[in-house]
Amino acid sequence: MSRFRRARIFRPTPRNLVFLAHRLRAGELVAVPTETVYGLAANALDARACAKIFRVKGRPANDPLIVHVRDLQQLAQIAVLNTAVARLARKFWPGALTIVLTKLPVVSDIVTSGRPSVAVRVPAHRIARQLLDRAGVPLAAPSANPFGYVSPTTAEHVRENLGRRIDYILDGGPCSIGLESTILDLRDPDEPTLLRPGAITRDELAAALGRRIRTAPPQAKQRASLHAQLAPGMLARHYSPHTPVVLHERLPRSELSRDEAYVHLGKPPRPQVNEFWFDARGNLAGVARRLFATLRRIDAGGFKSIHVELARGDGLAEAINDRLRRAAAK
Ligand code: TXA
Ligand code: MG
Repeated sequence: MSRFRRARIFRPTPRNLVFLAHRLRAGELVAVPTETVYGLAANALDARACAKIFRVKGRPANDPLIVHVRDLQQLAQIAVLNTAVARLARKFWPGALTIVLTKLPVVSDIVTSGRPSVAVRVPAHRIARQLLDRAGVPLAAPSANPFGYVSPTTAEHVRENLGRRIDYILDGGPCSIGLESTILDLRDPDEPTLLRPGAITRDELAAALGRRIRTAPPQAKQRASLHAQLAPGMLARHYSPHTPVVLHERLPRSELSRDEAYVHLGKPPRPQVNEFWFDARGNLAGVARRLFATLRRIDAGGFKSIHVELARGDGLAEAINDRLRRAAAK
């Protein structure tokens, strides 16, 4: 029965926010907008509610969740703080930075996949913050997509993917950043380690901490043991459209194959029907914002493959290319 129930999209009116906050407190799931991507949220202190997230997403139990909190005070209830966290919080929160810290016992093993650490962030999206305020509990929320597929950046994306499996989607409009948060392991403040690049860049983190930012060893080099993995969600293949993706430093403009799609960073002069672009001017913030939505749209277009131009430079380009490489990984 419930398999055929359609999720309802709720506008962020005060009444709806109160209602959805109640649903969360009652142990139900709500898809919520954030500035990065839409998340599938549950009360982080309710292990049974969090277990539902894994079932709905088809997510393996060894891939832990990010917990969203209102502020440092709420964070102190679930994790061990240090001075480096306080410094980053002042500079980047609310915002697209997730920090991995040693967890406190209230956080269940389901949320952290049995790890002694928990990933936390204070989201900047106004609607997400209002919902957190009204719920009064921290919210565990990974991206609201089926495991392995492209993350959702609109309420409609969530409905397309999970509409048959969840009841409540809160619409906060299209996400302004469009890529998942930067993840930094800060359990040892002397060795800050980047687990996932995002809109908050390695250089910004290094400047704020006055330290070099280490990079987590690639998945392949990490031990096969589940528990030794630093960031289990950082699988080589992730964020993938169904159509095969091929990456290019520069895309060809002539002799294009008709049944393949070509996606440029910016709009090419006189584009052919199977040529697309992420951002009219190729501006990297715009590329990030529309990256997943563009891949989803082309994925539905019946092409044999999708050729994509890589971003150039560092900063946001590192995060964009990271997602593109995962989308293209076999
Ligand atoms: O922007 C975002 O981060 C979005 C929004 C909804 O906040 N969330 C998100 O979550 O993208 P997602 O689906 O990437 O899942 C959380 C990821 C895991 O795959 C894992 O890589 C990492 O966070 N993670 C969670 N807990 C961790 C931990 N204790 N240690 C290391 N990595 C952890
Ligand atoms: Mg995800």
